[in-house]
Amino acid sequence: MQDQAAKIRIDELREILRENSRRYYVDNAPTMSDFEFDSLMHELERLEAEFPQFDSPDSPTRRVGSDLDAPVGANAESGIRQGFIQRPHRYPMLSLGNTYSIGEIEEFAARADKALDGIPFSYSCELKFDGTAICLTYRDGRLVQALTRGDGVQGDDVTENVRRIAGIPHQLHGDYPPEFEIRGEILMPYEAFDALNREREAQEDAPFANPRNAASGSLKLINPDEVERRGLICTLYHIPAESVTFDSHSQALDAAASWGLPVSGERRLCRNIGEIKAYIDHWDKARKFLPFATDGIVIKINELSCQRALGYTAKSPRWAVAYKFKAEQACTELLSIDYQVGRTGAVTPVANLAPVQLSGTVVKRATLNNADQMALLDIRVGDWVFVEKGGEIIPKITGIDPAHRSPDAERPVFPDRCPDCGTPLVKAETEAKWFCPNQDGCPMQIKGRMLHFVSRKAMDILAGEMTIDQFYATGLATTAADLYAISKYQLLGLEGWQDRSAQRFLDSLEASKQVPFERVLYALGIRYVGETTAKTLARHFGDIDSLAAASQEQLLEVGDVGEVIAGSIYDFLHDPAHLEQIGRLREAGLRFSGAGQEAAVSDALAGKTVVISGNFSISRERMKDLIVAHGGKAGSSVSAKTAFLLAGTKPGPEKLRKCEKLGVPVVSEEEFRAMLPDGSLSAPAVPADAGREHDGPTLEEPTLF
Ligand code: IVH
Repeated sequence: MQDQAAKIRIDELREILRENSRRYYVDNAPTMSDFEFDSLMHELERLEAEFPQFDSPDSPTRRVGSDLDAPVGANAESGIRQGFIQRPHRYPMLSLGNTYSIGEIEEFAARADKALDGIPFSYSCELKFDGTAICLTYRDGRLVQALTRGDGVQGDDVTENVRRIAGIPHQLHGDYPPEFEIRGEILMPYEAFDALNREREAQEDAPFANPRNAASGSLKLINPDEVERRGLICTLYHIPAESVTFDSHSQALDAAASWGLPVSGERRLCRNIGEIKAYIDHWDKARKFLPFATDGIVIKINELSCQRALGYTAKSPRWAVAYKFKAEQACTELLSIDYQVGRTGAVTPVANLAPVQLSGTVVKRATLNNADQMALLDIRVGDWVFVEKGGEIIPKITGIDPAHRSPDAERPVFPDRCPDCGTPLVKAETEAKWFCPNQDGCPMQIKGRMLHFVSRKAMDILAGEMTIDQFYATGLATTAADLYAISKYQLLGLEGWQDRSAQRFLDSLEASKQVPFERVLYALGIRYVGETTAKTLARHFGDIDSLAAASQEQLLEVGDVGEVIAGSIYDFLHDPAHLEQIGRLREAGLRFSGAGQEAAVSDALAGKTVVISGNFSISRERMKDLIVAHGGKAGSSVSAKTAFLLAGTKPGPEKLRKCEKLGVPVVSEEEFRAMLPDGSLSAPAVPADAGREHDGPTLEEPTLF
């Protein structure tokens, strides 16, 4: 690989990995499977080793992911405390090197043999628990501190919450050292996870994607009572060697168990690679029957003197390695392939499948990513394919079963023209995807951009796919700016619109003028600028003019903006058509300045935690913004500390029952309006029976891939 190409790929990988690390650790909402993340990390490691001239101290290969510094509203769950005190770790909390290959475990063992040069040693094999890491400190036998991993150097102090987790002793017994640290994982067992998600769905809250996210979200809740209710458990697996005076890891953990600590019971001492493999084989199958999630096996050199001799890299110990299990798969028939054109023009092949059950849900569609992936799989319509769920909601096809191929299975032909507008597709050398270059004329791209603009996380305008299709087909809107020129008269002239629906749409347009700059920036749909990058840019530049005036070098000064993102922002803001659009949006009254959080509109709700349930005349997201803008907090579940439940139409019965039990008042939208200063809510007091018609495209174009 040429230097230039390597540099571009290194930058790109660093950006992708940073963004996904944030989604995983901060937002608790990963969009990539562990396997993909690990593969990209390994690719970056290889490239950095081959091209040391591009080394950088803040490369993701040198840092552990961080759960710190969750910006307000970035968490998957509201009610998460932003203000945990951060405290330093006495010993850095590192990560583990990992692999999916037994061959690399053999290499790990061979390296240890060589480095330890005849000194006898054994391996402690353990489960790799898939939860969120915790570091406990005991002083004089009492639990005095619990820190999350944070960025590995300092973590969030979650002691009060951890004290409420079953099985973590507040006081030890027996012959414990005066002070020591012990580390492990907080887990949410499947049963508690299912119960929590059932409850959340009944209360119309978004369910958690997996038990790991649920555990880490729960650990950062405001209310320790709620933490206790979530049914978390803890398992401990590591005492830093500096902290105690044992000869081996297994001795240290056995002693910890004797002091009353919940230490993993599935450990086994192995003497050689054969025994390690037998342990892996056993748990690869047996883990399906465990009551909690595991994602692999950890193999540690057991003798602490050997651990000390081997030491650490910047990121992980040389005396341990994780073997990761592959994600669960299902096998089903590929019925047909659709080619979807996203808002950036990228063409994504999407498989239609015979419905199949996978990790609790029925899967009917899966992404095939791009033409290269299809060629690599040598896929045919009619094949039996393996489907896997990654971190994201949309599953992907990871392989085919050649034994099942019928002789007349057809090889699909990737279109050479846009399936929507017929323009010949193009592909840049550095891109994996084919693109339709007809940005201004391709209906799917035009509609896709408008759908992104109105989506909940962007401008939150009450318009779904059908409405946007209708606006486009009737010529009423082909750009986001056109939306703001639509009149009630025009809407009433369209099929299916009535006075009330028209008014609600216009109200949501009006309300969108209060959407903060960072979300407007995200709504513009600049390639690679996702929610987090938009927020960072808004904070850094403060307004669109400063951002548009920035050189590529100045853009590169912004944390986490690499060359690919900088180039994309620069090009977007130097395109006259985009500038004209921005001008029109500005004239419509949208916010193009103002960094970070909204200033409080009033303190009418100061000190009050408000829980919302049901549907309102504005979206639930806007309603939560409104609560915060008036000094309140938007809580996620009803507790004795809830000031009141704001109930729209069809509130969750569970929440109502809880209010009755705890004597928490229930307030209607109308009563709520009356609490706020006059004129602070522009939307009219009409009850809305349903939310938006559609949330946006089903296969949203990912921002980074
Ligand atoms: S030992 C110095 N043992 O996996 C490394 N970690 O991907 C100490 N994990 O950061 C960690 N099960 O949060 C260790 N049996 C186990 C584990 C385990 C899960 C987590 C831990 C670690 C991460 C690395």
